[in-house]
Amino acid sequence: MTKVNSKHTADSQVILSQFMQPEHANALGNVHGGWIMKLIDEAGGLCATRHARRPAVTLAVDSLRFLSPVHVGDFVTFTAHLNWVGHTAMEVEVNVEAENLLTGEKTHTNSAYLVFVALDQAGHPVEVPGLILETEDERRRWGQGTQRQADRLSRAKREAA
Ligand SMILES: CC(C)(COP(=O)(O)OP(=O)(O)OC[C@H]1O[C@@H](n2cnc3c(N)ncnc32)[C@H](O)[C@@H]1OP(=O)(O)O)[C@@H](O)C(=O)NCCC(=O)NCCS
Repeated sequence: MTKVNSKHTADSQVILSQFMQPEHANALGNVHGGWIMKLIDEAGGLCATRHARRPAVTLAVDSLRFLSPVHVGDFVTFTAHLNWVGHTAMEVEVNVEAENLLTGEKTHTNSAYLVFVALDQAGHPVEVPGLILETEDERRRWGQGTQRQADRLSRAKREAA
């Protein structure tokens, strides 16, 4: 059933960019993976909050793989958009791209899927607006997000048994 207050995915998309400084480095001199994970969570949380217009907390992060290192001096962009929404839960996809400012080369370093839950003033899960799906790509992402959420719930059920 379509919710009456549904919104477009473009309304909540977030693009967060940060220049990687020496203070973000690990012992090898590359950017610390934990710093990238923090910014993934931040971009995802901003996107979910923008959609819900409510505080949104991170409930789950799917497995995260670094495809290539991020270097100090890279300009890194985190693009977050909603794939799927349930009653109170939202799946956000965050894509990470590192740009070498001197050569212009851009490298896709990660994609992550996170689930956020919107909270009311008492800190309880609260209903979020629906998503208006207009393009083939949005419908495909919704279908894949629905499947991933079903997998998460069945995994959680198995782990609790
Ligand atoms: C997020 C939180 C409020 C959810 O509380 P809860 O009692 O589990 O809430 P519910 O059982 O009503 O579930 C809320 C939604 O999460 C979904 N959900 C529950 N477990 C899930 C899981 N393992 N994976 C994905 N989604 C899940 C539910 O299906 C429901 O979605 P829906 O309303 O769209 O159907 C609670 O778990 C919490 O406060 N967690 C800590 C969050 C936090 O502090 N994050 C920052 C970490 S530092």
